[in-house]
Amino acid sequence: DWTMAEYKAAKIADIREQVGDGKVICGLSGGVDSSVAAILIHEAIGDQLMCVFVDHGLLRLNEREQVETLFRDHYNIPLVVVDAEERFMAGLDGVSDPEKKRKFIGGEFIEVFDEEAARIGGADFLAQGTLYPDVIESVSFTGGPSVTIKSHHNVGGLPERMNMQLVEPLRELFKDEVRDLGRELGLNDQFVGRHPFPGPGLAIRIPGEVTKERCDILRKADAIYLEEIRNAGLYDAIWQAFAVLLPVKTVGVMGDSRTYDNVCGLRAVTSTDGMTADVYPFDASFLTRVSTRIVNEVKGINRVVYDYTSKPPGTIEWE
Ligand code: XMP
Repeated sequence: DWTMAEYKAAKIADIREQVGDGKVICGLSGGVDSSVAAILIHEAIGDQLMCVFVDHGLLRLNEREQVETLFRDHYNIPLVVVDAEERFMAGLDGVSDPEKKRKFIGGEFIEVFDEEAARIGGADFLAQGTLYPDVIESVSFTGGPSVTIKSHHNVGGLPERMNMQLVEPLRELFKDEVRDLGRELGLNDQFVGRHPFPGPGLAIRIPGEVTKERCDILRKADAIYLEEIRNAGLYDAIWQAFAVLLPVKTVGVMGDSRTYDNVCGLRAVTSTDGMTADVYPFDASFLTRVSTRIVNEVKGINRVVYDYTSKPPGTIEWE
């Protein structure tokens, strides 16, 4: 039995021992996990750490600005923001298979980190906010035969040519424990309470081909959905909520005209660790309000559906 304060002290000691006077770069996603990992590592080794935030064009509305504010202004942790939208979009062009998307994005992340490391004269370590569930779900399905359900973007190690070792101080923790550790490191409740966001970002919330145009449409719908969830005071009761954009067009009518646009799916689940999940039972009036707003305000969407699938048999993300 250990307290989070003890865990933090032990991990800081581990990080110092592993890293010595080496240089570490840490990939930030804007989520709780990579932020907690970065702040913990910064506490251990100070400015031997440099953080890299890759803007792959698959982020939510205003996410990049929020990360910049937190790291630069609040924590004063060295941060490089890489504008990588074009190369990610180019690489995703024509790719619609979910595993191919995930593999490309994971590989491209590593490429970008490698380039950024080279820019600072090389780094010895790459830090990631990999959690325990990431590790096991990429290896095998609980209790079943060894099959890959999804290749998490940050699991699976580094290509051999890269001379960097991984630093993954959260590898033994579940999400709720990471949140406790975040509080222990001085992050406020609002930040540690943020819903998880996957590294591959909006790419795995757009079944089929990912384009900038589709990302822009999805960003708007997602922001409206989350704004309504916050306004209703439901954010903290939900593990994760997000919109998906389906590559399916249906016919609708607005005013006197016919529309022929995409379908938006809404997902919201409760969970304690992301391994299993239940559908969040919104009131019908809430879903009606969100649906009306999205169809009225987001050009490109004329129909909204709610995903009523638990995990299992569904997964939380759609890909
Ligand atoms: P699934 O869709 O597998 O998701 O039920 C379980 C939890 O993991 C998150 N997730 C990811 N997080 N990289 C991440 O950092 C990934 O590649 C990834 N894929 C899924 C998902 O958002 C949910 O919280």
